[in-house]
Amino acid sequence: SFILVLAPIVGYVCGSIPFGLLLTRAAGLGDVRKIGSGNIGATNVLRTGNKGLAAATLVLDALKGTVPALIFARYGAEAGALAGAGAFIGHIFPAWLGFKGGKGVATYLGVLIGLAWQVALIFAAVWLAMAVLFRYSSLAALTACVVVPVALFALGHLEYGLAFALMSVLVFYKHRANIERLRAGTEGRIGAKG
Ligand code: G3P
Repeated sequence: SFILVLAPIVGYVCGSIPFGLLLTRAAGLGDVRKIGSGNIGATNVLRTGNKGLAAATLVLDALKGTVPALIFARYGAEAGALAGAGAFIGHIFPAWLGFKGGKGVATYLGVLIGLAWQVALIFAAVWLAMAVLFRYSSLAALTACVVVPVALFALGHLEYGLAFALMSVLVFYKHRANIERLRAGTEGRIGAKG
């Protein structure tokens, strides 16, 4: 139906707003893509030393997934999943940045908050536990992204399980440089400048 065509388009437009880039630019910190990992996400914004800006990036990159997911989920799980996946794809492949976007973690969490908040709590618990134990943002996110599709399928959310399994594959793909660094022992710890 029309809603199923509209959902991923609206999702994509919302998701493609690069808040990390816009906020760091507005704060006069230059181009966040030239520091640290080169990523436009909250973890790399934190490497500028500005915690408030990193928190704002996290919240806004999550909300741009939550809002379309919540709105379209009113028309059913399929529409919600398509809007959410659209936002996630918009974040990692934004047309306005030559399709070179972020790694998707905050938006993934935001979509999950909109579609299955109980599983978002599981994501947050796994992310925090891993972050406290190892202090690698990437490792915490990758671990949480393995747990989420399993939890969704276990709870019987088949549409969401499928959507998040695909999104998790893309999160891993976007983290391939991080995975190399984790294996080599050279990945930057949370908050460390670089
Ligand atoms: O959300 C991205 C995070 O998992 C890794 O970010 O900047 O360390 O590559 P970064």
